[in-house]
Amino acid sequence: MKLKKTIVLLPGDGIGPEVTRSAANVLQECAREFQHQFTFVEMPVGGAAIDKAGTPLPNETLDACKKADAVFLGAVGGPKWDSLSVGKRPENGLLDLRKGLGLFVNLRPVKVIEPLRGISPLKQDRLGDLDLEIVRELAGGMYFGERGTVKENGVERAFDTESYSTPEIERIAAFAFTRAEARSRRLCSVDKANVLSSSQLWRRTVSAMGTVYPNVKLEHMYVDNAAMQLTLKPTQFDVILSTNMFGDILSDAAAALVGSIGLIPSASFGTSAPMFEPIHGSAPSLAGKDMANPIGAILSATMMLRDTFGLSLEADWAEQSLVRVLNTGVRTADMAEPGKKTVACSVFNDMLHDEMQRTFEHAEKYGWGV
Ligand code: IPM
Ligand code: MN
Repeated sequence: MKLKKTIVLLPGDGIGPEVTRSAANVLQECAREFQHQFTFVEMPVGGAAIDKAGTPLPNETLDACKKADAVFLGAVGGPKWDSLSVGKRPENGLLDLRKGLGLFVNLRPVKVIEPLRGISPLKQDRLGDLDLEIVRELAGGMYFGERGTVKENGVERAFDTESYSTPEIERIAAFAFTRAEARSRRLCSVDKANVLSSSQLWRRTVSAMGTVYPNVKLEHMYVDNAAMQLTLKPTQFDVILSTNMFGDILSDAAAALVGSIGLIPSASFGTSAPMFEPIHGSAPSLAGKDMANPIGAILSATMMLRDTFGLSLEADWAEQSLVRVLNTGVRTADMAEPGKKTVACSVFNDMLHDEMQRTFEHAEKYGWGV
């Protein structure tokens, strides 16, 4: 089936534009070869939007995203805007966008990419066939709680609040249970219920929902223990459910297990257009040097193809080509073993493009087969 889709591209800051180009190239390639029609609309967000329009999320950007079939975001933030206060920073562009699009689910798959086994900091027997998913709540918690600064008797105090309502917990938990049902049926909900009352409500609500999903083996874990277990025995996890803040922290920790945060994609779902973004940041030290790892961005694009557009053949084609490129030993700097040669981000993209072409021609002649 030929599809017609509008995709909003939000390159943002630092390495964001580079990796967005990599992802858009792959999407474009899929559209061209499979005769879909993807219309790309590029809009400013983050620091780039502050510089251009005086605000990290201009109304036109949010409006375009609301009308899109899918949104792709590169990264936001950088030292140039570091002196701005909370509320006015590039990061607020991303947070307002998540809120504005009603995105309450953030799905972060962390999986060993076979040719990159060697770059994991874990011993191979611990790494095993690591394949887990973090389901991070994205629209509530400390990110969006009441915050402020006050002066008491000449002493400054700043505060941020963690708060969750039952419906907020139920809707994210329902997603996580469904996800677990479709995988190995194990769900680990991570909280800090020994200290936080918001976590106690979280645990109680998730437990109550467990009765609706009797096939799923539900476990609860405190976040400090979960951080340790991720390093000691990551293969015990299948789907991990957590709050906005804990999910953010645990996903960076989990990303390290497969060797580079540059490898991990994400998809966010909610009440309007879904958004896809690599989980890495804007990496200011790499910006403009053509050194970024485009894989997290490319895998975010294939999540868009497969999960949102239902284009699994196209997504498989891109992902399998990517693995074959990695099999030849080609690496960007962050995933190179010491002393090994590295390539620029743009060279990596060109090699992926060539590989996709080569296999497409082959498939046209001999069929997609197995
Ligand atoms: C992420 C990032 C963002 C977050 C920042 C840039 C606001 O770290 O997507 O994980 O904390 O959610
Ligand atoms: Mn993060």
